Amino acid sequence: MSINIICCLSNNNAIGYRKELLFEIKEDLKRFQHLTKNQIVVMGRSTFESIIERNNKPLGNGRTNVVLSRDENYTSKYGEYVFNSVDKILKHCKTMGECDKSVWILGGQSVFEAFLPHADNVYLTHVNKYVFDFDAEYPMGLQENLGFIKTEEEEYHSDKYNCSYKFTRYDKPPVAEEIGEENDGGK
Ligand SMILES: NC(=O)c1ccc[n+]([C@@H]2O[C@H](COP(=O)([O-])OP(=O)(O)OC[C@H]3O[C@@H](n4cnc5c(N)ncnc54)[C@H](OP(=O)(O)O)[C@@H]3O)[C@@H](O)[C@H]2O)c1
Repeated sequence: MSINIICCLSNNNAIGYRKELLFEIKEDLKRFQHLTKNQIVVMGRSTFESIIERNNKPLGNGRTNVVLSRDENYTSKYGEYVFNSVDKILKHCKTMGECDKSVWILGGQSVFEAFLPHADNVYLTHVNKYVFDFDAEYPMGLQENLGFIKTEEEEYHSDKYNCSYKFTRYDKPPVAEEIGEENDGGK
């Protein structure tokens, strides 16, 4: 079971304002749909509620929606899984009998912060714009401190925003023993 972060952000790491997304790029949405289809998607209560407001339903296409809230009494009329800690979500995802599925962390800010130390891969869409009105940001400093390494980057142009954007992927750095093994020639 891999744990993946997925997020679309501006040059200054802004991701949202007043519960809304900052960018809606068709190709980015397609990439999101493709990567997360039939998988487990984890999100904070605010992100979950903004999805319900926008679509009148949780994310579909075979996705299992999991919501993080500190409110022990929080329930969703859609019957989604609700947990009040990261550990409980991780334990649940490992034991829910869906080990072949991957876990996708959809945000927002505090949820990215909480899951980055547990993440294997990070999929970011960097939109080449500075945004001044925002109230949620991606914790890029934390990602850098954790040593994630960029392994993929593809650049495109958005006519809608008249700017370039990049699909990138970052992987967790190898752990110390793995580096040691490589230096020993795998002996
Ligand atoms: N650009 C992108 O890719 C992207 C992706 C997702 C979201 N967004 C944007 O980000 C904004 C929403 O993000 P946000 O950071 O304000 O809210 P959020 O992370 O979606 O939700 C915050 C809520 O999640 C719960 N939570 C967070 N961390 C927790 C923890 N460690 N343990 C237990 N519960 C926890 C709490 O719920 P309770 O208050 O119920 O306790 C908290 O109030 C919106 O503007 C949205 O559009 C952008």
